[in-house]
Amino acid sequence: MNVIRSVVTGTGSYLPEKILTNYDIEQKVDTTDEWIVERTGIKQRHIAAQDEVTSDLAVIAAERALLSAGLDASEIDLIIVATSTPDQTFPSTATTVQRKLGITRGAAFDVQAVCSGFIYALTTADNFIKAGQAKNVLVIGAEIFSRILDWEDRTTCVLFGDGAGAVVLTAMSGTGNVSDRGILASRIHSDGRYSNLLYVDGGVSSTGTVGHLRMKGKEVFKHAVLNLASVVGEVLEDCNLSSEQIDWIVPHQANKRILDGTARKLKVSPEKVVITVQKHANTSAASIPLALDEAVRDGRITPGQVVILEAMGGGFTWGACLLRW
Ligand code: UT7
Repeated sequence: MNVIRSVVTGTGSYLPEKILTNYDIEQKVDTTDEWIVERTGIKQRHIAAQDEVTSDLAVIAAERALLSAGLDASEIDLIIVATSTPDQTFPSTATTVQRKLGITRGAAFDVQAVCSGFIYALTTADNFIKAGQAKNVLVIGAEIFSRILDWEDRTTCVLFGDGAGAVVLTAMSGTGNVSDRGILASRIHSDGRYSNLLYVDGGVSSTGTVGHLRMKGKEVFKHAVLNLASVVGEVLEDCNLSSEQIDWIVPHQANKRILDGTARKLKVSPEKVVITVQKHANTSAASIPLALDEAVRDGRITPGQVVILEAMGGGFTWGACLLRW
């Protein structure tokens, strides 16, 4: 059976120049490098310059992804930006990215699913491609979380960073079985009952302010490993594959202990997990494409391999994609 598959034909990423180490944060709040490393694995994070906005980060990541795909911006017919830290309330950051890339055709919109945003955006793009409505799609995760942190709250400000990552998805024909390249399965979930465990205490129609990130970390942690292991199980089952057949897991990078816990639950060896949290901290929707770009460029991820992307975030939202690279 002939089917349309969404194949990743290019990846790119961008991190702002400024690095803030745990030692730098020790000067701001009552914390230590030792506590942060032991509890999260994070050693440093990148922080956007004052004159940088989210679309600036997104555009550089997108240009790098286009270059690696060998495509011109004019060949893109859909741009989806996953972000919770847009330049403006409207227009969408995606249309700003579209303008900055000089694209005047097709469509562009944002997706908001916090740390699961990239999985939501990738799933949406895959459905547009499978429906025949787009051929080349730019899927971007871009965030400047440093602007919504309460820099006096040690329980959250040590955890996040800024950055952007992008992929180009291209429509290609496949046979319909799991030897095809491209996205073979994707699942997204949400459960709004948990919205009070990870949220921003402001908004356009409530306080009229941007607000600050608030999190009950321990509670989020408990749900994370369970939900992530379960949704990875779902995409494996969709493809009739077992966890031994996974070559790489590229998870959302929130906490090294969550990454280790999920791998253990799935019985996947820790060497198969791409980890960047020590260098980037949690960059929300940007963390998966940032980690993916690193592992593709350094030659770890190679064509034919089975790659799983997974994330969980505020909402709660969570999801996973299974791809053959
Ligand atoms: O991306 C979206 C998904 N987000 C996540 O997945 C985050 C999930 N949660 C976590 O990663 C962890 O729960 C945290 C890293 C946020 C916290 O780790 P924890 O092991 O759950 O610590 P805790 O919140 O139970 O805090 C332990 C202690 C507390 O002190 P007491 O009450 O035991 O005296 C905190 O006040 O550590 C204290 N603490 C800190 N100490 C030094 C909290 N933050 C800090 C800090 N430095 N930065």
